[in-house]
Amino acid sequence: MRTIQIEASSNHYPVRVGAGLRHQLGQWINKGDYSRVLLVADEAVVAYYSNDCMKALENIVPVHLYAVPSGEASKSFSEYEKILQKALAVGLDRKSCMIALGGGMIGDLAGFAAASYMRGVGFIQIPTTLLAHDSSVGGKVAINLEHEKNMVGAFYQPDGVYYDIETLQTLPEHEWRSGFAEVIKHGIIGDSSLYHDLRNAFPSLDAVRSDADLALTIERAIRVKAHVVAQDETETGVRAYLNFGHTLAHALESMTNFEMSHGDAVSIGMRFALRMSRKLTGTQVQEKDWREWFDGLGFPRLSPHLDVCDMLKKMKKDKKSTSGQINMVLLEEIGRVCLRSVDDEMIIEELKAFQREEQA
Ligand SMILES: NC(=O)c1ccc[n+]([C@@H]2O[C@H](COP(=O)([O-])OP(=O)(O)OC[C@H]3O[C@@H](n4cnc5c(N)ncnc54)[C@H](O)[C@@H]3O)[C@@H](O)[C@H]2O)c1
Ligand SMILES: [Zn+2]
Repeated sequence: MRTIQIEASSNHYPVRVGAGLRHQLGQWINKGDYSRVLLVADEAVVAYYSNDCMKALENIVPVHLYAVPSGEASKSFSEYEKILQKALAVGLDRKSCMIALGGGMIGDLAGFAAASYMRGVGFIQIPTTLLAHDSSVGGKVAINLEHEKNMVGAFYQPDGVYYDIETLQTLPEHEWRSGFAEVIKHGIIGDSSLYHDLRNAFPSLDAVRSDADLALTIERAIRVKAHVVAQDETETGVRAYLNFGHTLAHALESMTNFEMSHGDAVSIGMRFALRMSRKLTGTQVQEKDWREWFDGLGFPRLSPHLDVCDMLKKMKKDKKSTSGQINMVLLEEIGRVCLRSVDDEMIIEELKAFQREEQA
């Protein structure tokens, strides 16, 4: 088992990564820590893993289960309200805890419920997707408003994250790919040796799925995020670097009604950010290199059918845009990024050329 200590200013907590951790929760959650637990689980993982979690806690604290329908649509006010109602019905009090069992959707939803129920109760994450190596660390929790992502939320650090990598065995292939985009991102923005190791070891998704050192790979990616969060918990500065590739990615997710997975969108967004970086920072990294690698991993290319002006409009709506000016995270060199404001005209021109070249 590997442990990464997160040193956010509002809370310090361990992220543990290893095989079978769901059976060992009783080692870290002690009698008296919490009066009662509500296990908020993604419906898709309930049958696989919720019994194991409940069994591990049965002699320690009363545990209740609440299952949430799978999918981004559940990050809604109605699901949020149902969790709070369930918490009230089973008698959660201020000393209680909500445990999120699932991917980033459940982590964000249950985390926001935990942050607001009785002005905040205990919160623990048991991530079950590769993408959740990112979402479960750092304390951003939120639900969506209408079609706008993460519009209502909080910064609310968990008391602990127990990442049982055995749960990834049931994850569909496209979800592995989605999560791996964020692993790559962490290498690009903050750890050049991680980046080069990924580049060498994982030419295909099969290689990722059969990684004999998966816990180590995940640990290294989490360390990049942990380092950023420790410097800037509430995103007033360097935390924006985590958004590498995300300005275009959020636009693509929204334009495809979230049919495109987050990681697929981020993979395209990172390649576009590299294109902009080559113009603006003069980075030496080759676009062709990433395109070949990402093709091998099965990431999609930018569709010729999406309108470039719509993309720009959506990019301007990004929470990181200020007064209508698009701010993009750009690559200086592997392991180092910067934030730059970029003109609309340049974005349009480059998006058009990028889209054209995607078909070549
Ligand atoms: N808070 C943050 O800092 C942060 C960062 C990145 C992303 N996010 C959020 O995370 C969400 C995306 O996370 P995600 O990609 O984990 O999505 P997700 O939680 O929706 O999970 C993806 C799919 O995998 C299924 N699933 C989950 N675990 C499984 C398992 N072990 N076996 C089989 N199926 C399983 C789910 O039912 C779902 O269909 C988005 O809502 C995004 O906004 C938050
Ligand atoms: Zn992301």
